[in-house]
Amino acid sequence: MHMKINQRTIQRLKKNYGKWVLITGATSGIGKEMALKFGEAGFNLVITGRRENLLNDLSTLLFDRYQVEAIPICGDLSNENDVNSLIGETSHLNIGVAVLNAGFGTSGKFIDANIKQEVNMLHLNCRALMVLTHHFANKMKDKPLKVPLYYQLYGGFQGVPNAAHYAATKAYVQSLGEAIALELKPVGVDVLCAAPGPVESGFSKRANMKMSTTLSPEVVGVPIIQAIGKKRTVLPGFLTKLLVYNLSMTPRWGKIRIMGKVMSGFTKHQE
Ligand SMILES: NC(=O)c1ccc[n+]([C@@H]2O[C@H](COP(=O)([O-])OP(=O)(O)OC[C@H]3O[C@@H](n4cnc5c(N)ncnc54)[C@H](OP(=O)(O)O)[C@@H]3O)[C@@H](O)[C@H]2O)c1
Repeated sequence: MHMKINQRTIQRLKKNYGKWVLITGATSGIGKEMALKFGEAGFNLVITGRRENLLNDLSTLLFDRYQVEAIPICGDLSNENDVNSLIGETSHLNIGVAVLNAGFGTSGKFIDANIKQEVNMLHLNCRALMVLTHHFANKMKDKPLKVPLYYQLYGGFQGVPNAAHYAATKAYVQSLGEAIALELKPVGVDVLCAAPGPVESGFSKRANMKMSTTLSPEVVGVPIIQAIGKKRTVLPGFLTKLLVYNLSMTPRWGKIRIMGKVMSGFTKHQE
């Protein structure tokens, strides 16, 4: 499905936020889809990831196809130095939209987890996102800025047995995003939390999950972009909405059990 950002949204975003968009984690999945959609709409981009060849290929493609500038900045954002380098290397740009998307998941029983990998995930999903949010919020206060943050729907709204720590990192992001959305509004900085359901991307392989039903990145990218400046939380895609609304009347303890069942299905192959 080829979805496009509508013209009214393109004009609104350019008028309010300027022409520069940062996307962390643009080498695959949702981040890459959003980079392509922003590029198609004529925005210049800063794109990040660890895989330099994929970043350079995407930068070339964005220029060849849409004649936009896409600056690739390679780095591992679980590493504090690389987060600081990203801040330094973008300091001269007037970035108006920061899509803090880079992240990954883990699954299985918490007690069996590889603790180094869990700490690495905490540093990427939480520390890097928090430091970058703080930086851009300060840089752009009194100028319009959107900081779309990411959290996984399954993890953001309740605990998830069999992906307990991943879910906890996304609950951190959700809680931070909800609160600063109100704090930052008076200084003109807007925060959008995007909570997609299961999406077909590089995510499930790295998280060692086998998801039964997934959304394609194409159906979540445009709804997220169109929600910038309109909402504080967006549930992109029909499947996402169905999952959230289905569980909306269930008490928290019940949601934890249901999500634990769903996740044990996604991780059955690990037994
Ligand atoms: N897929 C889902 O079901 C789903 C649902 C809801 C939310 N999410 C969230 O959406 C975001 C994007 O995930 P995705 O589904 O698009 O997965 P993906 O295809 O695996 O993309 C993840 C992106 O993050 C980058 N990344 C990973 N580790 C990094 C690191 N240490 N430093 C810098 N960049 C790093 C990757 O680039 P490199 O590998 O090149 O570094 C890649 O571009 C994540 O935060 C994820 O938790 C995913």
